[in-house]
Amino acid sequence: MCGIVGYLGNKQAYPILIEGLKRLEYRGYDSAGIAILNGDLNLYKKKGKVKDLVKSIGGKSTAGTIGIGHTRWATHGEPNDINAHPHTSKNGRLSLIHNGVIENYESFKLALIERGHVFESETDTEVLVHLIEEIQKRDKLDLEEAVRQALTKVNGAYAIVVMDRDNPDILVAARKDSPLVIGIGKEEFYVASDGKAIIEHTKKVVYLKNEEIALLSRKGELSIKTINNDISTPFIQELDIELESIEKGDYEHFMLKEIFEQPKTVANCMRGRINADEGWIKVGGVNDLVQKFTEARRIIIIACGTSWHAALIGEYLFEELARIQVEVEYASEFRYRNPIIDERDIVIAISQSGETRDTLAAIEMAKEKGAVLYGIVNSVGSSIARITDAGSYIHVGPEIGVASTKAFTGQVSLLTLMAIHLGYQKGTIPRSYYLQLLEELENIPGKIEQILKKDAHIKYIAEEIKDSTNALYLGRGYNFPIALEGALKLKEISYIHAEGYPAAEMKHGPIALIDENMPVIVIATNKSIHEKMVTNIQEVKTRKAKVIAIVNEGDAEIKRLADYIIEIPETDEPITPLLSVIPLQMLSYHIALMRGCDVDQPRNLAKSVTVE
Ligand code: AGP
Ligand code: GLU
Repeated sequence: MCGIVGYLGNKQAYPILIEGLKRLEYRGYDSAGIAILNGDLNLYKKKGKVKDLVKSIGGKSTAGTIGIGHTRWATHGEPNDINAHPHTSKNGRLSLIHNGVIENYESFKLALIERGHVFESETDTEVLVHLIEEIQKRDKLDLEEAVRQALTKVNGAYAIVVMDRDNPDILVAARKDSPLVIGIGKEEFYVASDGKAIIEHTKKVVYLKNEEIALLSRKGELSIKTINNDISTPFIQELDIELESIEKGDYEHFMLKEIFEQPKTVANCMRGRINADEGWIKVGGVNDLVQKFTEARRIIIIACGTSWHAALIGEYLFEELARIQVEVEYASEFRYRNPIIDERDIVIAISQSGETRDTLAAIEMAKEKGAVLYGIVNSVGSSIARITDAGSYIHVGPEIGVASTKAFTGQVSLLTLMAIHLGYQKGTIPRSYYLQLLEELENIPGKIEQILKKDAHIKYIAEEIKDSTNALYLGRGYNFPIALEGALKLKEISYIHAEGYPAAEMKHGPIALIDENMPVIVIATNKSIHEKMVTNIQEVKTRKAKVIAIVNEGDAEIKRLADYIIEIPETDEPITPLLSVIPLQMLSYHIALMRGCDVDQPRNLAKSVTVE
């Protein structure tokens, strides 16, 4: 939910911290701050973006070869200069940055105040730095041990980096349920929430594991221990990110780049997993669990947000093609519902970031109840990728825009491959249909390309509805989750209130909302129930709504009815979502831009929700 970065070495820390924060800003951006040691502790904090922090620093002193930085998504204490991180101890000696939530901070804060500690901020984080200070001073401990002892007392999630003014040759980092990666340079160390802040300096990384504490020294020594004081061996890996993949290139926004990357990213997701000519599908993780999948009592898919919409499409796919019973659950609801699960169930967790706290917590609960856990993740090496029993990466490359686009089509591509593969393994789809679907899947990147060419037309439609205050998205079958996804895209980046609904359900309430001020976006590509969609459009038109219809190319009937249409290439119904979502992504992008919204970093949001 926020971005943390640290540096210790022989270079000037300031540019490294600022560039690192900019690369992590998509994780949270309501305020930012840095602390650099150079004899004294230079601390700068500012409400707003990293660029606002840089402006506020101006020509002040930023010299120093050790420092920490933070870009925040507030959980406790409003976004302002005081609540921004880093937070410092009462004696001004320690500074700390934190991603996560200290759940039992209030009791500690009261006790610390009673013992004379003076708090500046309203954050939960500040409790931690005062606690560490108190333990360090009371027991005359080195920083690492004081941090370890303090962490044994707190509940909640944390990724922290702590700096000690009186010991400028070390940094201490620790994590529990929030991500933290250590970059290893030549006698220098980088610490960050994820590899994007490190990649331009080194590809050698250690992903800190849960409840591990790392001590980094200027001499280039890295030691790791667990919170229980057991020695842990650092496992050095190669960072799997290319620098150009985390830059906008010629695009104005990351979201636009990621929308237009989809012909390539859908192809990358399927690369090596499908061959229509030879008639095969290979999904690594599934191949190891085919029997588990085909004999499963049911599949439960857990996810949040856009990934939950992909999960809904997975439900339609697995049930139609592989005849496997599926339940889709919001991870945040699932984990508190005390569901009936056992070893006969397969739980699929879908997550772009692989760090969503609600999804992680649901996985941990399902694991305790004996289910087999399968992860569908984009971020390599992420927590969900590491704690699931098996899984598949969607290989769409880093997704920086907060509004998920290429990750969604990657998730749906993978679910489609899995459902077709399992259906064929179970004999629930004939070879002829199997081969037809394979061939159609291989055509999808080209068909997405065709839709992207309609950008000017979609931009024109955006102009027509950009000033609406509400919008309704309607779809049936595979396009019902697409209606939900289109509505989420619009509301999260343009701040227009939008709802997705099953088209037939609109008559049971939402139709009361419809008038000439309500644009209704109808995804009407389903051939099997085309006449029903025509009826729904007529019902909406009767109430004077402006209808934008996503239709198959050549659909003259709906063309006559709708105010605006966006024609997309036809495909087999189970594969429709990979195409019908594209114009909705483009429409929301243009509307948000026309409304002057921050497309890549919408207000109140963050790319990875690593708090509950
Ligand atoms: C989607 O556009 C949003 N950014 C959000 O709903 C997101 O899909 C959700 O937070 C889940 O994230 P994850 O896929 O990384 O778990
Ligand atoms: N809970 C801390 C705060 O509100 C950290 C939030 C975050 O992870 O950004 O400052």
